[in-house]
Formats: sequence, C-alpha cells, structure tokens
Amino acid sequence: MPDEKETIIKLEGLTKKYGFREAESFALNNFDLTVKRGEFIMIMGPSGCGKTTLLNVIGLLDTATSGTYFLNGEPVNRIKSRKKARVRSKKIGFIFQNFNLIPDLPIIENVALPLVYSGFHKTRRLLRASETLERFNLKDKEYYMPYQLSGGQQQRAAIARAIVSKPEIILADEPTGNLDSHSSHIVMEELKRIHSEGNTIIMVTHNPNLTSYATRVINMLDGGIDTDIKTVEDSDLPEPVVVRNRRKKTSKKQKPALPNLRRSKKKKLKKRGKR
Ligand SMILES: Nc1ncnc2c1ncn2[C@@H]1O[C@H](COP(=O)(O)OP(=O)(O)O)[C@@H](O)[C@H]1O
Ligand SMILES: [Mg+2]
Repeated sequence: MPDEKETIIKLEGLTKKYGFREAESFALNNFDLTVKRGEFIMIMGPSGCGKTTLLNVIGLLDTATSGTYFLNGEPVNRIKSRKKARVRSKKIGFIFQNFNLIPDLPIIENVALPLVYSGFHKTRRLLRASETLERFNLKDKEYYMPYQLSGGQQQRAAIARAIVSKPEIILADEPTGNLDSHSSHIVMEELKRIHSEGNTIIMVTHNPNLTSYATRVINMLDGGIDTDIKTVEDSDLPEPVVVRNRRKKTSKKQKPALPNLRRSKKKKLKKRGKR
C-alpha cells in the first residue's frame, strides 16, 4: 500500500471525568480517534460536548482520566509534566479563540516565545520570529504591541506563534470565533496554506461554512463522536514540505567548536598538572 499515510495521533477509549458520585460527568466518554499525517479535521458539536477538552488532551495541556493517547506511536497521556511540556513545544502549535497574545510583549517577542525550548540564542529566536511574521505580511508590525493590531492581525500573529517552532500538529479552538467574516477568511486561508505544506490541523468551529477547508468533519455529541466524514481520500492528503534540515546544518557547523574548546581546556589542565 504505497499511499498508506502515517498515523500521527491515536486515541483509544479516552475518558475525561469531572466530579464524583452524583456530580460525576464525562467531558470525553470512551473516545476513539485515529488521525493521519496531513489531515485537516474540523470538529463541530453543541456547546459543552467536549471539543475543548479533546483539543486540550491532544495538545497535552490536559490529561485524560483513562484511556490511551499515542502521539507518533508513543503513549503520552501519562508522561511527566516536564516531558509533556517538551513534547508539546516540539510537536504542537496552539491557536485560541481569543488569540492569547501576552499584552505587554511586542508581537515579535510573542511569536518567539515557543522557541524558548529550542535552545536557540535570543537573537536567533527573534530572527526566526521575524521571518515567520514576514510570511504573514506582519513584518512592519513586529514591534507593535498586541493592542495596536486588529483582531485579524492578532490572530495571524498568533498563528505565526503557533507555527514558529515548526510543529507537526496545529490545534485551533474556534480560531475565527472572535473575527468578522473578512478576517475569518484571511485566517482560514493562512491555515489552508499551512495545511498544504503537509501539516496536520485539528480545528474546532461553530461555523459550518468553514468545513469546506477540511478533509474530514467530525460532529461530537456528549463526549463522543456522532458523525465522522472524510471528504478527501488519505492518498490525496498533502505531503510534508521538507524545511526541517536547517537546524541540523547549523549544529554540524557548530560541532567543531566544541571539541576544540574541550581540547584546549584539556591542554590547560595538563599544563597545570605538570607545574
Ligand atoms: N474544569 C472543569 N471542571 C468541571 N467540568 C468541566 C471542566 N471543564 C469542562 N467541564 C465540563 O466538561 C464538558 C465539556 O466541556 P468543553 O470541553 O469545554 O466543551 P465544548 O468545548 O464542546 O463547549 C462540559 O460539560 C463542561 O461543563
Ligand atoms: Mg470549547
């Protein structure tokens, strides 16, 4: 099967329980889902049916009460929170309804935030943020504060932040919920572009008009799946665009510097030992 796509997310019997005894309720109820790389899934359903809980569990912001979550084949539901944070920062980008930009940081620093885990020096983080903002036509606004931007511009900056560390999975919880139809359209076109580059997107929306962007539409009900319809065959999902070797190249370049340093240190130590 040459067109078999890689499974990126697999959820088995995920349950999220709130409260005890009489107050017990299930935000997710024995939830199963398999996501292939390159899918653009839209999740719909009435308020309170568990959409946000599902995204938070997938995004490792929340832990399911029981069940198994495989991310790239690795069980991640019960890993320690520090490792969770690392996996999240490497693999997952989040976009929220209310943008969630930090109000007293300029746009460029907001966008650079997820790179804190990358090990890059600050200058390099800001450079990457600036390049990403350029892709979103926001370079001229990079030193503006969030409040100086329109809602649509803020959400585009938030998308830039979500993708700056080149995650494989983008999770978006009603990203156009606070936007007018024109800004919604621009934001959806950005997500479409990110998807066409081979990224996997899972997006919650109330707007049925947006489902035309999706390759699969899932309707949730009471913490489970009501309907699940694929509109694009797995074999027609976009392939990842390879832009991931930049970091490798630089690390190769930097490598000789480290052993040299160590060698000179060794020499110094030897000299000291002789004296
Ligand atoms: N922290 C919480 N404590 C108790 N109940 C919660 C909590 N978060 C969510 N819920 C409940 O879980 C259910 C699903 O919530 P949510 O995932 O936010 O739904 P949706 O995003 O579809 O509107 C709701 O009944 C909600 O009240
Ligand atoms: Mg919600």
